[in-house]
Amino acid sequence: MTIVVISGTPRKQGRTRVAAKEVAERLQAELVDLSQLKLPLFDGETEQDQHPAVQELRKTAEEADAFVWVSPEYHNGMSGALKNALEFLGAGHFKRKPTLLLAVSGGGKGGMNAINQMRTVGRGLNAMVIPDQMVFDPADFSKHGVNAEGRLVRILEEFQTYLFVKHAI
Ligand SMILES: Cc1cc2nc3c(=O)[nH]c(=O)nc-3n(C[C@H](O)[C@H](O)[C@H](O)COP(=O)(O)O)c2cc1C
Repeated sequence: MTIVVISGTPRKQGRTRVAAKEVAERLQAELVDLSQLKLPLFDGETEQDQHPAVQELRKTAEEADAFVWVSPEYHNGMSGALKNALEFLGAGHFKRKPTLLLAVSGGGKGGMNAINQMRTVGRGLNAMVIPDQMVFDPADFSKHGVNAEGRLVRILEEFQTYLFVKHAI
């Protein structure tokens, strides 16, 4: 079972990275870090198929059995970096693959807009987006990392109950 966690912040110092790394560690998942993977801006031209970052992303997505998308909330939405990465992928990469949505907000009840947008985009990609979701607020981080033990354990346990799907088909 290969789980792929996509960290949707373009910022190397982003808290989304901290959350995504923590989740990847706990799930023993592969991390796709969009602050490191230098994807071009999707333009639909066939030359982009040869781009090393695009090839790496597609190979990783093909091999995945399940996904976690972690997006920062930027201007009341999911990050452009994550949306751009998903532009390079298609339904074939996501169909029947359980997908967990997590967002990281700046506070002030942010995060839900990013989650709702990801849910719509997930439908467009045929991802099996699970109903449970979680927002990390600034208070969920300390200088040591993520500080949201109970909620994090619960959401990851719930996600793991969906991981039978691939084997049931
Ligand atoms: C361009 C930009 C727009 C942002 N807009 C919002 C927003 O609309 N709502 C919100 O809760 N936080 C907003 N934030 C704060 C981020 O959600 C916050 O930095 C959080 O840690 C996740 O982003 P990060 O992973 O890049 O740190 C914004 C941050 C940036 C850089």
